[in-house]
Amino acid sequence: MPITTTRMKAVSLSVSLALAGILVGCNQNDSDAPIVKDDAYYRAQAETMVARLTLAEKLDLLSGPGYGSANGAVNVKQDVAGVAGYINGVSRSADGIDIPALKLADGPAGLRISANRDDDSATYHATAWPIGSLLASSWDVELVESVGEAMGDEVRQYGVDILLAPGMNIQRNPLNGRNFEYYSEDPLLTGKMGAAMVNGVESNGVGTTIKHFFGNNSETNRNQINDIGEPRTFREIYLRGFQIAVDEAQPWAIMTSYNKVNGTYVNERRDAVTEVLRDEWQFDGLVMSDWFAGDVANNAYKQVLAGQDLIEPGNVKEQLQQSIDHGDLSEAKVTEAAIHILTQVMKSPSYSQLAVSNSPDLTAHAALARQAGAESMVLLRNEAAAMPIAATSKVASFGINQINTYKGGTGSGDVNATGTTTIAQGLASRFPVNGALQSYYGDFYEANKVYHEGQFGSKGFYSCTEAAVGPELTGLIATAASEQDVAVISLGRQAGEGADRSNSKGDYLLGDDETALIDAVSNAFHAQGKKVVVVLNVNGVIDTAEWSHKVDGILLAYMAGQETGHAVADVLSGAVNPSGKLAQSFPQSYASVPSSTSFPGEDTDGDGEPDDLYYNEGIYVGYRYYSTFDKAVSYPFGFGLSYTSFGYTSPAIASNTLADGAAGSIVLTATITNTGGVAGKEAAQVYITAPEVKLKKPTIELKAFAKTKQLTPGATEQLSFTIPASILASFDEASNQWILEPGSYSAYISPSSDVSATTPVTFKLSKEIVVSNTTAGALALPSGVDAATVTTVTK
Ligand code: BGC
Repeated sequence: MPITTTRMKAVSLSVSLALAGILVGCNQNDSDAPIVKDDAYYRAQAETMVARLTLAEKLDLLSGPGYGSANGAVNVKQDVAGVAGYINGVSRSADGIDIPALKLADGPAGLRISANRDDDSATYHATAWPIGSLLASSWDVELVESVGEAMGDEVRQYGVDILLAPGMNIQRNPLNGRNFEYYSEDPLLTGKMGAAMVNGVESNGVGTTIKHFFGNNSETNRNQINDIGEPRTFREIYLRGFQIAVDEAQPWAIMTSYNKVNGTYVNERRDAVTEVLRDEWQFDGLVMSDWFAGDVANNAYKQVLAGQDLIEPGNVKEQLQQSIDHGDLSEAKVTEAAIHILTQVMKSPSYSQLAVSNSPDLTAHAALARQAGAESMVLLRNEAAAMPIAATSKVASFGINQINTYKGGTGSGDVNATGTTTIAQGLASRFPVNGALQSYYGDFYEANKVYHEGQFGSKGFYSCTEAAVGPELTGLIATAASEQDVAVISLGRQAGEGADRSNSKGDYLLGDDETALIDAVSNAFHAQGKKVVVVLNVNGVIDTAEWSHKVDGILLAYMAGQETGHAVADVLSGAVNPSGKLAQSFPQSYASVPSSTSFPGEDTDGDGEPDDLYYNEGIYVGYRYYSTFDKAVSYPFGFGLSYTSFGYTSPAIASNTLADGAAGSIVLTATITNTGGVAGKEAAQVYITAPEVKLKKPTIELKAFAKTKQLTPGATEQLSFTIPASILASFDEASNQWILEPGSYSAYISPSSDVSATTPVTFKLSKEIVVSNTTAGALALPSGVDAATVTTVTK
């Protein structure tokens, strides 16, 4: 199918590209018509250029140089210390070909480059933004796009070309150590957030890389793990977010994942990389590997045959040349990959040799990070209006995490920021605080902190156990309960790349010292008629069922980046009315997570590492499972309280053209009213119950959402929700089609995935509608593997 103009994104670099054209002698335009710098234009430029390159030069483009700054990279100009990789350039002075190397840097929570450089007294700090899970909790695509704009400004100002973000894997299981980089358990929310981030970052004329395509939903043995699942499972849950981002934002690049799917590395799967991604979704950007992924040491050519363009940090030039010599790889295939790479290269700041300022407005960005963090935090519990805490209230702040506050997770998703505002500092800037307690925790931390070396070229981090409730702390609690007005207990969890978390005390569960702290503080404060609030500065979901009833309030702060302490204090004080809602379910226990029986996989060869990871719950991930099988949760997906309340009225269908097929859609509206006493924003969600004819379906699925602007008490706003047929459709494996089944549909316009109090609006389809055809047999289970033994959670 031809690429249509509506899918093309023009990049406003015309002046500089004209300059680049002079430099490389290939950008002349003979006609008087204005040049539209869209993807077709860049591709034409790339085709012209590639015709001038030797095979060796083309292989340089496909083969990323070594790991680390300028490690053998060809034609690096204006190097940036601490980038994760490069795309080799080409330099041929004889005939004026001068393609500078491109600089690629992580990651999802902000630009990861070195803050310091050899023989240079200047600093190159970047803003540490709220983690993906927190940004998604905003349910606010405009906010996320504005964070992306600011993040991309730092990419541009510091001279990086392509950001290795956003992370768009699905939070299948709460123990995935890398969930913090990802948005949600739901593909629609993931896709919309990813698209907003891509559009924001790329508005600066730099690229993004949506990652890790696909199925990298756990870290244990991530380089070898084999995800076994049905094509429908992968398409509806694990691929759909990527598909939405490709459709709505056309990112410059996509990164394939480490894992295998149904027996073959994703980066060797032609069905995934070429048939689904390029042919079905019309992705026309650059596909790169994850770092050292797959069987790169022996069979790099298979990645190119599958349709992947760039192997990072490959150093596979000789290997690919040998594959050509042996007849395993054709030069035509190499040329095709080189065109994909050059098409993006020609859009880049390095290619245009744009000046680098090295001076992004870090102060303005810190303010935006703080606002985004505060607005996105989720108020899980607020009995008897425990929060907001009046500015005059005296606050007793407990917990080691108030000192050891985590700005983000570890690994390549870390950011070298100027520092982190701790929760202790944030509280002290807003409230009269108990100084003795803060000193106690500060001293305890200094005496007991443990340093963990960084991995994957990133910085290390400190952890510290919670202080035991011994005589000294017991005394401090007693004094605080009589002298202070309210207790705040901060609990933290760190995790990151390369390892998963565990369902154990001190990780998913509270440690004994944390439980003892909650008990002692709650008993002492409640005895005085005073309230206790818990702040969760966590990397991912933890248990709340065992202790939530003991406290009056819970604020899920996740990790809000460098401004975490200020953002927490903004919400606790009511300076910001929280409007975040959960982007992932909080299950009642880990055992109730449907993938808890399969995660992190089965060890089939007895080497102590899991090999096969069965996607046993099929499409019933997260709230799709809890709602369909009527399982209680601690806090449902989409849930979040506010300091005000909202009414939902007049749900209606504004238009319905679903019967038109692929181009059809349904538009719903509802009126949201602030029925409480303070100003606030509300994220409304549309869940659909669809008819089951040939296909079983989750009881409800998120199909649209929208957020109001700040509404003053009594104010109303009509929200509009558009659901395209493609989003409403389910995947029919038997026909390889996305279809809408005939029958009656219910649409719940609801404050959360608990739709029990919502009256739906209904609509009917009289016949089946085929939205699109797909590649027959793509992503099929390995031969001999029976679907019924893989997907054990069924209706
Ligand atoms: C990670 C990627 C990252 C890359 C470069 C890999 O280990 O999985 O997400 O972009 O390293 O740092």
